[in-house]
Amino acid sequence: MTTEDFTTEFSAKAADSGANATAAFASRVAASTGAAADTARVNLLATRAIKALNDLIIEERVTYDEYNALKAWLIRVGQDGEWPLFLDVFVEHSVEQVASDHREGSKGTIEGPYYVEGSPELPWDGTLPMRADEPGTPLLFQGTVKSTDGTALSNAKIELWHADDLGFYSQFAPGIPEWNLRGSFTTNEDGQFQITAIKPAPYMIPTDGACGQLIDAAGWHAWRPAHMHLKVSQPGYELLTTQLYFPGDPHNDDDIAGAVKPELMLDPQPRADGEGLEVTYDFLLDPAA
Ligand code: DHB
Ligand code: FE
Repeated sequence: MTTEDFTTEFSAKAADSGANATAAFASRVAASTGAAADTARVNLLATRAIKALNDLIIEERVTYDEYNALKAWLIRVGQDGEWPLFLDVFVEHSVEQVASDHREGSKGTIEGPYYVEGSPELPWDGTLPMRADEPGTPLLFQGTVKSTDGTALSNAKIELWHADDLGFYSQFAPGIPEWNLRGSFTTNEDGQFQITAIKPAPYMIPTDGACGQLIDAAGWHAWRPAHMHLKVSQPGYELLTTQLYFPGDPHNDDDIAGAVKPELMLDPQPRADGEGLEVTYDFLLDPAA
């Protein structure tokens, strides 16, 4: 493949990922009953958000050129379908912090724009769905799901999803099998799981749309460190939405999404009984209030 072919293909996929993330989010919102808006709360939050922006304009003496550039950019974010990308990269980490700072169990982090409910159900020792020639280092990912009091939780659900070696998520970039690198595993009677997966690659958020335009204009970079996304759940416990990371990734310390926490760093080792890597990570779930 020539560089030009690769660039063309990459661009097509990147543009699709934003629009598909918007469509996926919109259909989830349409399916939810949605709490009625509390007028007092909307008043408070909208007033403060608008005031924060106005204060910034006055303090930084924002010009008409800058104001119009902002308007044009906001319009483009919508046209490119990149609101889920923008918000999940730059804002979700604070919402997650507020939502989970009472927890004693495992650390959570952002969900990001690419979760899909209903991935194939697999046993405690299953293999993540992948193509026969799926690129990447094999990874045996194992551990136990427990309550914060130490009790092992059998039949807990572990949903795992991650990008392929080129940084594309199935169902958001075209040309990838529907459930590629997405699966729902169930812990055994001792709360254990042993999942055959692959080590994900570092991930670059799409750069050909409005988010990329901002990143370029501000001189930032578009990288997230390699990560596995997980949702761990069991009735009677708080849902844990998290990500796990790999030591040595150049972007562990400057994740554009601000979603890395020291507790989420894995320690993979060469596999004793085969090819690739193995790693153990236990999840502690907080009993629901
Ligand atoms: C984005 C992508 C991710 O894979 C992720 O985990 C968080 C954010 C994004 O493109 O916005
Ligand atoms: Fe991700």
